[in-house]
Amino acid sequence: MTTDPREIVEYPDPDEAARDGIEEEDNKIPAWFSASFAFSIVIAAVYIPYYMFSGWSAAGQWAAQVEQAEVRYADARQVVPSSNPYRGNAAAIAAGEQVYATTCVACHKPDGSGLVGPSLIDPYWKYGNSDEVLYETVDKGRPLGMPPWGAQLGSEKIWQVLAYMETLPKSAAAGIGAPEGWTPGN
Ligand code: HEC
Repeated sequence: MTTDPREIVEYPDPDEAARDGIEEEDNKIPAWFSASFAFSIVIAAVYIPYYMFSGWSAAGQWAAQVEQAEVRYADARQVVPSSNPYRGNAAAIAAGEQVYATTCVACHKPDGSGLVGPSLIDPYWKYGNSDEVLYETVDKGRPLGMPPWGAQLGSEKIWQVLAYMETLPKSAAAGIGAPEGWTPGN
């Protein structure tokens, strides 16, 4: 046998039984190993078709849990009642007056006729004056300078201040914030 001189010849005799005191033995694969290997093939043959065709999956479990949660927390989600729970409630209106005096007067004036912010007592509503919309306006703010108050006031005080706002004496004419030339009825 010719040997490439660059090669380190490690096994001059492939059948040599021991090298540096380390012996190679030719044992059979242990039975437990062969058995677990065979077992894994059986499991795969069952599991893969089951996973693919039975419809069972983590995604399905997740969807089922989301559905349960939707049902359980449906009430909690309904954060915004669709109508003001404090309408006409004298104590709440008094509390709302306090909120209005500290939080809203600077921009909407004490009588609600408007200054930096638009009039809250004229018939014109840019964003609408349903309870839901008014709540959203105060909770989340509006782009042209109305700050969001939700974090500071919380829902109770928002409803209170809105209940108070309703009691401000109304004006019939379009006030601050209404588009030029707008008349009630338009
Ligand atoms: C920093 C000034 C400022 C303060 C304070 C402020 N607002 Fe406003 N508000 C505005 C401005 C400006 C607008 C107009 C926003 C727009 O047109 O996008 C507005 C709009 C509104 C609207 C909508 C009016 C419409 O025509 O749809 C309501 C309702 C309102 N404010 C209520 C309140 C209440 C209640 C408070 C107190 C909790 C308050 N605002 C505090 C400046 C203010």
